[in-house]
Amino acid sequence: MGSAWSSVLADGTGRGRLDGRLIGLGITGSIAAYKTPELVRAFQAEGADVVCVMTSSATRFVSPLTLQALSRHAVETDVLSLLPDDRIGHIVVADTADAIVVAPATAHWLAAMASGLAGDSVTAACLATTAPVIVAPAMDGEMYAHPATQANVRRLATDYHYTIVEPERGPLASGQLAVGRLADIGRIVDTVVEAVQGRPVRAPDSALRPPAAPAVHDADLTDRHIVVTAGGTAEAIDPVRYIGNRSTGKMGVAVAEAAVDRGARVTLICGQTSVPLPSGAEIIRAESTAQMRAALLAEAVDQDGRAGFDALIMAAAVADFRPVKPAETKLSRGERLTLELESTPDLLAELSRIVGGRDSAGASTRRPLEPRPVLVGFAAETGSLDRAAEKLVRKGLDLLVANDVSEAGSGFGTDTNRVTIHRRDGDVIELPLLSKREVADRLLDLVARALYERGTDSHTGRESRETPAPEEIPG
Ligand code: CTP
Repeated sequence: MGSAWSSVLADGTGRGRLDGRLIGLGITGSIAAYKTPELVRAFQAEGADVVCVMTSSATRFVSPLTLQALSRHAVETDVLSLLPDDRIGHIVVADTADAIVVAPATAHWLAAMASGLAGDSVTAACLATTAPVIVAPAMDGEMYAHPATQANVRRLATDYHYTIVEPERGPLASGQLAVGRLADIGRIVDTVVEAVQGRPVRAPDSALRPPAAPAVHDADLTDRHIVVTAGGTAEAIDPVRYIGNRSTGKMGVAVAEAAVDRGARVTLICGQTSVPLPSGAEIIRAESTAQMRAALLAEAVDQDGRAGFDALIMAAAVADFRPVKPAETKLSRGERLTLELESTPDLLAELSRIVGGRDSAGASTRRPLEPRPVLVGFAAETGSLDRAAEKLVRKGLDLLVANDVSEAGSGFGTDTNRVTIHRRDGDVIELPLLSKREVADRLLDLVARALYERGTDSHTGRESRETPAPEEIPG
Protein backbone atom coordinates (compact mmCIF):
# COMPACT_ATOMS: atom_id res chain seq x y z
CA MET A 1 0.00 0.00 0.00
CA GLY A 2 2.73 2.37 -0.88
CA SER A 3 0.58 4.95 -2.64
CA ALA A 4 0.11 8.52 -1.55
CA TRP A 5 -3.14 7.92 0.31
CA SER A 6 -1.55 5.63 2.90
CA SER A 7 -0.26 8.70 4.71
CA VAL A 8 -3.74 10.02 5.38
CA LEU A 9 -5.20 6.82 6.79
CA ALA A 10 -4.20 6.44 10.39
CA ASP A 11 -4.66 9.36 12.72
CA GLY A 12 -3.07 7.46 15.60
CA THR A 13 -6.38 6.92 17.42
CA GLY A 14 -7.35 3.89 15.35
CA ARG A 15 -10.44 5.80 14.20
CA GLY A 16 -10.97 6.65 10.57
CA ARG A 17 -12.19 9.99 9.28
CA LEU A 18 -15.15 8.27 7.64
CA ASP A 19 -16.14 5.97 10.53
CA GLY A 20 -19.73 4.79 10.19
CA ARG A 21 -20.23 6.52 6.80
CA LEU A 22 -21.59 4.95 3.64
CA ILE A 23 -19.87 6.13 0.47
CA GLY A 24 -21.53 5.49 -2.89
CA LEU A 25 -18.83 5.07 -5.53
CA GLY A 26 -20.03 5.68 -9.09
CA ILE A 27 -17.67 4.27 -11.71
CA THR A 28 -17.87 5.17 -15.39
CA GLY A 29 -16.03 3.84 -18.42
CA SER A 30 -12.56 5.37 -18.33
CA ILE A 31 -9.42 3.30 -18.24
CA ALA A 32 -8.75 4.84 -14.81
CA ALA A 33 -11.55 2.58 -13.55
CA TYR A 34 -8.79 0.04 -12.87
CA LYS A 35 -7.80 2.21 -9.88
CA THR A 36 -11.21 1.92 -8.19
CA PRO A 37 -10.49 -1.23 -6.12
CA GLU A 38 -7.71 0.79 -4.50
CA LEU A 39 -10.13 3.66 -3.96
CA VAL A 40 -12.61 1.29 -2.27
CA ARG A 41 -9.83 0.11 0.07
CA ALA A 42 -8.82 3.69 0.83
CA PHE A 43 -12.38 4.61 1.89
CA GLN A 44 -12.61 1.43 3.96
CA ALA A 45 -9.30 2.21 5.64
CA GLU A 46 -10.92 5.45 6.81
CA GLY A 47 -13.77 3.42 8.36
CA ALA A 48 -16.35 3.79 5.55
CA ASP A 49 -18.74 1.22 4.19
CA VAL A 50 -18.60 1.46 0.36
CA VAL A 51 -21.20 0.53 -2.25
CA CYS A 52 -20.38 0.70 -5.97
CA VAL A 53 -22.63 1.52 -8.92
CA MET A 54 -21.25 1.25 -12.44
CA THR A 55 -22.13 2.20 -15.96
CA SER A 56 -22.05 -0.73 -18.36
CA SER A 57 -18.89 0.57 -20.08
CA ALA A 58 -17.10 0.73 -16.72
CA THR A 59 -17.60 -3.04 -16.35
CA ARG A 60 -15.23 -3.50 -19.32
CA PHE A 61 -12.37 -1.96 -17.32
CA VAL A 62 -12.95 -3.43 -13.86
CA SER A 63 -15.01 -6.43 -12.89
CA PRO A 64 -18.13 -5.94 -10.76
CA LEU A 65 -17.17 -9.19 -8.99
CA THR A 66 -13.89 -7.67 -7.81
CA LEU A 67 -15.73 -4.63 -6.48
CA GLN A 68 -18.42 -6.78 -4.86
CA ALA A 69 -15.78 -8.92 -3.14
CA LEU A 70 -14.04 -5.82 -1.80
CA SER A 71 -17.10 -3.77 -0.86
CA ARG A 72 -19.24 -6.69 0.30
CA HIS A 73 -22.23 -5.15 -1.46
CA ALA A 74 -23.77 -6.17 -4.75
CA VAL A 75 -22.72 -3.79 -7.54
CA GLU A 76 -25.52 -2.23 -9.59
CA THR A 77 -24.63 -2.15 -13.28
CA ASP A 78 -28.13 -1.95 -14.77
CA VAL A 79 -30.43 0.92 -13.86
CA LEU A 80 -33.46 -1.34 -14.28
CA SER A 81 -32.32 -4.17 -12.02
CA LEU A 82 -33.60 -4.63 -8.48
CA LEU A 83 -31.80 -5.61 -5.30
CA PRO A 84 -32.36 -9.14 -3.94
CA ASP A 85 -34.85 -7.62 -1.46
CA ASP A 86 -36.74 -5.95 -4.36
CA ARG A 87 -35.63 -2.39 -3.52
CA ILE A 88 -34.28 -0.20 -6.35
CA GLY A 89 -30.50 -0.24 -5.95
CA HIS A 90 -29.55 3.26 -7.09
CA ILE A 91 -32.39 4.79 -5.02
CA VAL A 92 -31.20 2.98 -1.89
CA VAL A 93 -27.69 4.31 -2.57
CA ALA A 94 -29.09 7.81 -3.21
CA ASP A 95 -31.10 7.75 0.03
CA THR A 96 -28.51 6.27 2.38
CA ALA A 97 -25.04 7.31 1.15
CA ASP A 98 -23.30 10.11 3.04
CA ALA A 99 -21.63 11.14 -0.21
CA ILE A 100 -21.61 9.94 -3.80
CA VAL A 101 -18.25 9.99 -5.51
CA VAL A 102 -18.05 9.60 -9.26
CA ALA A 103 -14.54 8.44 -10.06
CA PRO A 104 -13.51 8.22 -12.78
CA ALA A 105 -16.06 10.45 -14.56
CA THR A 106 -15.87 10.28 -18.38
CA ALA A 107 -16.68 13.09 -20.83
CA HIS A 108 -19.80 11.17 -21.86
CA TRP A 109 -20.97 10.81 -18.27
CA LEU A 110 -20.34 14.50 -17.52
CA ALA A 111 -22.52 15.39 -20.54
CA ALA A 112 -25.28 13.01 -19.46
CA MET A 113 -25.19 14.39 -15.92
CA ALA A 114 -25.16 18.00 -17.11
CA SER A 115 -28.34 17.23 -19.07
CA GLY A 116 -29.93 15.11 -16.31
CA LEU A 117 -30.13 12.03 -18.53
CA ALA A 118 -30.66 9.17 -16.08
CA GLY A 119 -29.90 6.32 -18.48
CA ASP A 120 -27.30 4.69 -16.24
CA SER A 121 -27.16 3.83 -12.54
CA VAL A 122 -24.52 6.43 -11.69
CA THR A 123 -26.47 9.41 -13.12
CA ALA A 124 -29.69 8.03 -11.65
CA ALA A 125 -28.12 7.79 -8.16
CA CYS A 126 -26.76 11.35 -8.42
CA LEU A 127 -30.09 12.77 -9.61
CA ALA A 128 -31.94 11.05 -6.78
CA THR A 129 -29.67 12.04 -3.91
CA THR A 130 -29.52 14.98 -1.53
CA ALA A 131 -26.04 13.90 -0.35
CA PRO A 132 -22.92 15.79 -1.46
CA VAL A 133 -21.63 14.63 -4.87
CA ILE A 134 -17.92 14.63 -5.64
CA VAL A 135 -16.80 14.17 -9.24
CA ALA A 136 -13.28 13.18 -10.32
CA PRO A 137 -13.02 13.35 -14.16
CA ALA A 138 -10.45 11.28 -16.07
CA MET A 139 -9.98 11.25 -19.83
CA ASP A 140 -7.76 12.22 -22.73
CA GLY A 141 -6.28 15.76 -22.47
CA GLU A 142 -8.04 17.23 -25.53
CA MET A 143 -11.36 15.74 -24.45
CA TYR A 144 -11.05 17.39 -21.07
CA ALA A 145 -9.99 20.73 -22.59
CA HIS A 146 -12.89 20.71 -25.10
CA PRO A 147 -15.37 23.56 -24.47
CA ALA A 148 -18.24 21.06 -24.30
CA THR A 149 -16.59 19.12 -21.48
CA GLN A 150 -15.53 22.31 -19.71
CA ALA A 151 -19.10 23.68 -19.94
CA ASN A 152 -20.46 20.43 -18.49
CA VAL A 153 -17.96 20.50 -15.61
CA ARG A 154 -18.91 24.12 -14.89
CA ARG A 155 -22.59 23.23 -14.89
CA LEU A 156 -22.02 20.46 -12.35
CA ALA A 157 -19.96 22.75 -10.14
CA THR A 158 -22.02 25.95 -10.28
CA ASP A 159 -25.61 24.80 -10.89
CA TYR A 160 -25.51 21.48 -9.01
CA HIS A 161 -22.91 22.44 -6.37
CA TYR A 162 -20.98 19.24 -7.00
CA THR A 163 -17.36 19.27 -5.88
CA ILE A 164 -14.95 18.69 -8.75
CA VAL A 165 -11.63 16.97 -8.02
CA GLU A 166 -9.69 18.28 -11.00
CA PRO A 167 -7.71 15.72 -12.99
CA GLU A 168 -3.94 15.93 -12.86
CA ARG A 169 -1.27 16.43 -15.48
CA GLY A 170 0.59 13.24 -16.30
CA PRO A 171 1.05 10.44 -18.85
CA LEU A 172 -2.31 9.32 -20.24
CA ALA A 173 -3.41 6.06 -21.85
CA SER A 174 -3.33 7.85 -25.22
CA GLY A 175 0.42 8.39 -24.83
CA GLN A 176 -0.10 12.13 -24.27
CA LEU A 177 1.36 14.07 -21.36
CA ALA A 178 -1.60 16.28 -20.47
CA VAL A 179 -4.24 17.20 -17.90
CA GLY A 180 -6.69 14.27 -17.75
CA ARG A 181 -5.24 11.78 -15.30
CA LEU A 182 -7.53 10.73 -12.43
CA ALA A 183 -6.68 12.74 -9.30
CA ASP A 184 -4.53 11.05 -6.70
CA ILE A 185 -6.57 8.72 -4.48
CA GLY A 186 -5.52 10.58 -1.33
CA ARG A 187 -6.90 13.82 -2.79
CA ILE A 188 -10.22 12.19 -3.64
CA VAL A 189 -10.51 10.74 -0.11
CA ASP A 190 -9.61 14.10 1.48
CA THR A 191 -12.26 15.87 -0.62
CA VAL A 192 -14.92 13.37 0.50
CA VAL A 193 -13.89 13.72 4.16
CA GLU A 194 -14.26 17.48 3.83
CA ALA A 195 -17.65 17.19 2.09
CA VAL A 196 -19.23 15.06 4.84
CA GLN A 197 -17.60 16.81 7.81
CA GLY A 198 -20.12 18.08 10.35
CA ARG A 199 -23.04 16.25 8.76
CA PRO A 200 -24.82 13.50 10.69
CA VAL A 201 -24.48 9.93 9.36
CA ARG A 202 -27.49 9.58 7.05
CA ALA A 203 -28.33 5.91 7.62
CA PRO A 204 -26.58 4.48 10.68
CA ASP A 205 -28.91 1.46 10.59
CA SER A 206 -27.33 -0.96 8.13
CA ALA A 207 -30.76 -2.48 7.44
CA LEU A 208 -31.66 0.70 5.51
CA ARG A 209 -28.44 0.58 3.49
CA PRO A 210 -27.85 -1.63 0.45
CA PRO A 211 -27.86 -5.25 1.65
CA ALA A 212 -24.56 -6.96 2.27
CA ALA A 213 -23.68 -9.41 -0.47
CA PRO A 214 -22.39 -12.69 0.85
CA ALA A 215 -18.63 -12.31 1.02
CA VAL A 216 -16.88 -14.11 -1.78
CA HIS A 217 -15.30 -16.93 0.16
CA ASP A 218 -13.42 -19.94 -0.95
CA ALA A 219 -15.10 -23.15 0.06
CA ASP A 220 -12.83 -22.96 3.11
CA LEU A 221 -14.95 -25.30 5.24
CA THR A 222 -15.15 -28.12 2.69
CA ASP A 223 -15.14 -31.55 4.41
CA ARG A 224 -15.59 -29.97 7.82
CA HIS A 225 -18.47 -31.10 10.01
CA ILE A 226 -19.93 -28.09 11.78
CA VAL A 227 -22.66 -28.46 14.40
CA VAL A 228 -24.75 -25.35 15.02
CA THR A 229 -27.49 -24.91 17.61
CA ALA A 230 -30.17 -22.28 17.05
CA GLY A 231 -33.37 -20.97 18.60
CA GLY A 232 -34.70 -21.11 22.13
CA THR A 233 -35.40 -24.14 24.27
CA ALA A 234 -38.87 -24.77 25.72
CA GLU A 235 -39.16 -26.32 29.19
CA ALA A 236 -42.50 -27.98 29.85
CA ILE A 237 -44.66 -26.82 32.73
CA ASP A 238 -47.46 -29.17 31.71
CA PRO A 239 -48.43 -30.77 28.35
CA VAL A 240 -49.54 -27.41 26.89
CA ARG A 241 -47.41 -24.77 28.65
CA TYR A 242 -43.73 -24.14 28.72
CA ILE A 243 -41.05 -21.70 29.81
CA GLY A 244 -39.40 -20.26 26.71
CA ASN A 245 -37.46 -17.19 25.56
CA ARG A 246 -37.47 -14.61 22.79
CA SER A 247 -34.90 -16.23 20.53
CA THR A 248 -36.05 -16.62 16.90
CA GLY A 249 -33.03 -18.61 15.73
CA LYS A 250 -31.99 -15.95 13.15
CA MET A 251 -28.36 -15.77 14.25
CA GLY A 252 -27.81 -19.54 14.46
CA VAL A 253 -29.58 -20.11 11.14
CA ALA A 254 -27.40 -17.43 9.51
CA VAL A 255 -24.30 -19.26 10.80
CA ALA A 256 -25.61 -22.59 9.49
CA GLU A 257 -26.41 -21.06 6.07
CA ALA A 258 -23.02 -19.42 5.80
CA ALA A 259 -21.26 -22.67 6.78
CA VAL A 260 -23.23 -24.58 4.12
CA ASP A 261 -22.24 -21.96 1.52
CA ARG A 262 -18.58 -22.41 2.53
CA GLY A 263 -18.70 -26.12 1.84
CA ALA A 264 -19.23 -27.55 5.34
CA ARG A 265 -21.41 -30.50 6.26
CA VAL A 266 -23.75 -28.80 8.70
CA THR A 267 -25.90 -30.32 11.43
CA LEU A 268 -28.36 -27.74 12.73
CA ILE A 269 -29.85 -28.60 16.12
CA CYS A 270 -32.94 -26.43 16.43
CA GLY A 271 -34.98 -25.40 19.41
CA GLN A 272 -37.91 -23.09 18.77
CA THR A 273 -37.30 -21.02 15.64
CA SER A 274 -39.42 -18.70 13.53
CA VAL A 275 -37.25 -18.34 10.42
CA PRO A 276 -36.86 -20.60 7.36
CA LEU A 277 -34.20 -23.25 7.89
CA PRO A 278 -31.37 -23.77 5.39
CA SER A 279 -32.00 -26.54 2.89
CA GLY A 280 -28.40 -27.74 2.76
CA ALA A 281 -28.14 -28.61 6.48
CA GLU A 282 -29.22 -31.73 8.37
CA ILE A 283 -31.90 -30.52 10.77
CA ILE A 284 -32.39 -32.12 14.19
CA ARG A 285 -35.29 -30.84 16.29
CA ALA A 286 -34.63 -30.50 20.01
CA GLU A 287 -37.30 -28.77 22.00
CA SER A 288 -36.00 -28.90 25.55
CA THR A 289 -32.54 -28.52 27.06
CA ALA A 290 -32.58 -32.28 27.74
CA GLN A 291 -33.31 -33.04 24.05
CA MET A 292 -30.66 -30.59 22.91
CA ARG A 293 -28.17 -32.22 25.27
CA ALA A 294 -29.02 -35.68 23.90
CA ALA A 295 -28.62 -34.44 20.30
CA LEU A 296 -25.26 -32.85 21.10
CA LEU A 297 -23.94 -35.93 22.92
CA ALA A 298 -24.96 -38.08 19.93
CA GLU A 299 -22.85 -35.88 17.65
CA ALA A 300 -19.85 -35.38 19.94
CA VAL A 301 -17.96 -38.65 19.47
CA ASP A 302 -17.92 -40.90 16.40
CA GLN A 303 -17.84 -44.73 16.37
CA ASP A 304 -14.05 -44.76 16.53
CA GLY A 305 -13.99 -42.59 19.65
CA ARG A 306 -12.78 -39.57 17.70
CA ALA A 307 -14.36 -36.13 17.67
CA GLY A 308 -17.65 -36.24 15.78
CA PHE A 309 -17.44 -32.64 14.60
CA ASP A 310 -14.82 -30.04 13.76
CA ALA A 311 -16.61 -27.13 15.35
CA LEU A 312 -19.60 -26.55 17.60
CA ILE A 313 -21.28 -23.18 17.34
CA MET A 314 -23.71 -22.83 20.21
CA ALA A 315 -26.00 -20.00 19.17
CA ALA A 316 -29.09 -21.47 20.87
CA ALA A 317 -30.64 -19.63 23.80
CA VAL A 318 -30.66 -22.50 26.25
CA ALA A 319 -32.86 -22.21 29.35
CA ASP A 320 -31.00 -21.80 32.60
CA PHE A 321 -33.90 -23.14 34.68
CA ARG A 322 -36.66 -25.68 34.14
CA PRO A 323 -39.58 -26.97 36.18
CA VAL A 324 -38.37 -29.76 38.48
CA LYS A 325 -41.34 -31.93 37.66
CA PRO A 326 -43.60 -30.94 34.73
CA ALA A 327 -47.24 -31.82 35.39
CA GLU A 328 -48.44 -34.85 33.42
CA THR A 329 -51.88 -33.38 32.78
CA LYS A 330 -52.87 -29.80 32.04
CA LEU A 331 -52.86 -27.65 35.17
CA SER A 332 -56.23 -26.11 35.86
CA ARG A 333 -56.84 -22.53 36.89
CA GLY A 334 -56.35 -21.70 40.54
CA GLU A 335 -55.63 -18.75 42.81
CA ARG A 336 -51.90 -18.99 42.31
CA LEU A 337 -49.27 -21.40 41.10
CA THR A 338 -45.78 -21.82 42.45
CA LEU A 339 -43.37 -23.54 40.12
CA GLU A 340 -40.25 -25.10 41.50
CA LEU A 341 -37.39 -24.67 39.06
CA GLU A 342 -34.03 -26.39 38.93
CA SER A 343 -31.01 -25.26 36.97
CA THR A 344 -30.37 -26.97 33.67
CA PRO A 345 -27.02 -28.55 32.81
CA ASP A 346 -24.64 -26.17 31.04
CA LEU A 347 -24.44 -27.95 27.69
CA LEU A 348 -21.51 -26.04 26.32
CA ALA A 349 -19.46 -26.51 29.50
CA GLU A 350 -20.26 -30.23 29.40
CA LEU A 351 -19.21 -30.52 25.75
CA SER A 352 -16.04 -28.64 26.58
CA ARG A 353 -15.28 -31.19 29.33
CA ILE A 354 -15.89 -34.08 26.90
CA VAL A 355 -13.58 -32.43 24.38
CA GLY A 356 -10.89 -31.94 27.05
CA GLY A 357 -11.32 -35.42 28.60
CA ARG A 358 -12.21 -33.92 31.97
CA ASP A 359 -14.90 -34.77 34.52
CA SER A 360 -17.15 -32.20 36.21
CA ALA A 361 -14.53 -31.66 38.93
CA GLY A 362 -11.97 -30.80 36.25
CA ALA A 363 -9.91 -33.99 36.65
CA SER A 364 -8.53 -35.68 33.51
CA THR A 365 -10.34 -38.98 33.16
CA ARG A 366 -9.85 -39.85 29.48
CA ARG A 367 -7.84 -38.75 26.53
CA PRO A 368 -8.97 -35.45 25.06
CA LEU A 369 -10.96 -35.79 21.84
CA GLU A 370 -8.91 -35.87 18.67
CA PRO A 371 -8.81 -33.74 16.59
CA ARG A 372 -9.80 -31.10 19.07
CA PRO A 373 -13.03 -29.37 17.94
CA VAL A 374 -13.32 -25.61 17.96
CA LEU A 375 -15.94 -24.51 20.50
CA VAL A 376 -17.89 -21.28 20.07
CA GLY A 377 -20.35 -19.80 22.54
CA PHE A 378 -22.73 -16.86 22.34
CA ALA A 379 -23.55 -14.56 25.23
CA ALA A 380 -26.60 -12.34 25.03
CA GLU A 381 -26.14 -9.71 27.72
CA THR A 382 -28.06 -6.60 28.67
CA GLY A 383 -25.82 -3.63 29.30
CA SER A 384 -22.18 -4.38 29.98
CA LEU A 385 -20.32 -7.12 28.10
CA ASP A 386 -17.78 -7.40 30.94
CA ARG A 387 -18.71 -10.98 31.84
CA ALA A 388 -17.91 -12.29 28.35
CA ALA A 389 -14.19 -12.94 28.85
CA GLU A 390 -14.87 -14.77 32.12
CA LYS A 391 -17.56 -16.91 30.41
CA LEU A 392 -15.12 -17.95 27.68
CA VAL A 393 -12.65 -19.19 30.30
CA ARG A 394 -15.29 -20.77 32.55
CA LYS A 395 -16.77 -22.75 29.66
CA GLY A 396 -13.41 -23.61 28.06
CA LEU A 397 -14.21 -22.04 24.67
CA ASP A 398 -12.12 -20.95 21.70
CA LEU A 399 -14.41 -18.06 20.77
CA LEU A 400 -17.24 -16.24 22.49
CA VAL A 401 -19.57 -13.93 20.60
CA ALA A 402 -21.09 -11.35 22.95
CA ASN A 403 -23.81 -8.86 22.19
CA ASP A 404 -25.97 -6.42 24.10
CA VAL A 405 -29.54 -7.45 23.32
CA SER A 406 -30.92 -4.22 24.80
CA GLU A 407 -29.13 -2.18 22.09
CA ALA A 408 -31.23 -1.09 19.06
CA GLY A 409 -30.62 -3.39 16.08
CA SER A 410 -28.88 -6.01 18.21
CA GLY A 411 -31.63 -7.95 19.92
CA PHE A 412 -33.81 -10.98 19.27
CA GLY A 413 -35.52 -11.17 15.90
CA THR A 414 -33.55 -8.30 14.32
CA ASP A 415 -31.74 -8.74 11.01
CA THR A 416 -28.64 -7.05 12.35
CA ASN A 417 -26.29 -7.56 15.25
CA ARG A 418 -23.40 -5.67 16.81
CA VAL A 419 -21.09 -8.20 18.40
CA THR A 420 -17.77 -8.41 20.16
CA ILE A 421 -15.83 -11.62 19.58
CA HIS A 422 -13.50 -12.77 22.36
CA ARG A 423 -10.71 -15.16 21.45
CA ARG A 424 -9.10 -17.72 23.71
CA ASP A 425 -5.78 -15.83 23.47
CA GLY A 426 -7.41 -12.74 25.01
CA ASP A 427 -7.85 -10.85 21.75
CA VAL A 428 -11.12 -8.93 21.45
CA ILE A 429 -12.61 -8.07 18.05
CA GLU A 430 -15.31 -5.42 18.05
CA LEU A 431 -17.44 -5.53 14.92
CA PRO A 432 -19.74 -2.72 13.76
CA LEU A 433 -23.50 -3.16 13.31
CA LEU A 434 -23.72 -5.79 10.56
CA SER A 435 -26.33 -8.08 9.07
CA LYS A 436 -26.51 -11.40 10.93
CA ARG A 437 -25.25 -13.13 7.79
CA GLU A 438 -22.19 -10.92 7.77
CA VAL A 439 -21.58 -11.54 11.48
CA ALA A 440 -21.85 -15.26 10.66
CA ASP A 441 -19.22 -14.97 7.94
CA ARG A 442 -16.83 -12.97 10.14
CA LEU A 443 -17.21 -15.62 12.83
CA LEU A 444 -16.62 -18.44 10.34
CA ASP A 445 -13.49 -16.65 9.12
CA LEU A 446 -12.15 -17.08 12.68
CA VAL A 447 -13.36 -20.68 12.93
CA ALA A 448 -11.69 -21.52 9.60
CA ARG A 449 -8.51 -19.93 10.86
CA ALA A 450 -8.63 -21.87 14.16
CA LEU A 451 -9.20 -25.12 12.26
CA TYR A 452 -6.28 -24.36 10.00
CA GLU A 453 -4.05 -23.68 13.01
CA ARG A 454 -5.19 -26.95 14.54
CA GLY A 455 -3.45 -28.53 11.56
CA THR A 456 -5.84 -31.32 10.58
CA ASP A 457 -8.01 -31.51 7.56
CA SER A 458 -11.31 -32.55 9.15
CA HIS A 459 -12.61 -34.69 12.00
CA THR A 460 -11.18 -37.61 10.03
CA GLY A 461 -7.84 -36.20 11.15
CA ARG A 462 -5.93 -36.01 7.87
CA GLU A 463 -2.98 -33.67 8.09
CA SER A 464 -3.37 -30.63 5.88
CA ARG A 465 -0.73 -27.98 5.79
CA GLU A 466 -0.51 -27.65 2.02
CA THR A 467 -3.50 -25.35 1.82
CA PRO A 468 -2.71 -21.68 2.35
CA ALA A 469 -3.71 -20.06 5.65
CA PRO A 470 -6.98 -18.14 5.51
CA GLU A 471 -6.40 -14.39 5.55
CA GLU A 472 -6.10 -12.95 9.06
CA ILE A 473 -9.31 -11.06 9.77
CA PRO A 474 -8.92 -7.49 10.90
CA GLY A 475 -11.25 -6.35 13.65
N1 CTP B 1 -25.47 -22.48 27.27
C1 CTP B 1 -25.52 -23.85 27.36
N2 CTP B 1 -26.28 -24.46 28.30
C2 CTP B 1 -27.01 -23.74 29.18
C3 CTP B 1 -26.96 -22.32 29.11
C4 CTP B 1 -26.19 -21.71 28.14
O1 CTP B 1 -24.86 -24.52 26.57
N3 CTP B 1 -27.75 -24.34 30.08
C5 CTP B 1 -24.63 -21.86 26.23
C6 CTP B 1 -25.37 -20.92 25.31
O2 CTP B 1 -25.86 -21.60 24.17
C7 CTP B 1 -24.31 -19.91 24.93
C8 CTP B 1 -23.38 -19.89 26.13
O3 CTP B 1 -23.66 -21.08 26.88
O4 CTP B 1 -23.56 -20.32 23.82
C9 CTP B 1 -23.56 -18.71 27.02
O5 CTP B 1 -24.87 -18.62 27.46
P1 CTP B 1 -25.29 -17.67 28.64
O6 CTP B 1 -26.76 -17.87 28.95
O7 CTP B 1 -24.82 -16.30 28.36
O8 CTP B 1 -24.36 -18.25 29.80
P2 CTP B 1 -24.68 -18.73 31.23
O9 CTP B 1 -23.59 -19.65 31.62
O10 CTP B 1 -26.06 -19.30 31.30
O11 CTP B 1 -24.52 -17.41 32.05
P3 CTP B 1 -25.63 -16.40 32.64
O12 CTP B 1 -27.00 -16.92 32.30
O13 CTP B 1 -25.33 -16.36 34.08
O14 CTP B 1 -25.32 -15.10 31.94
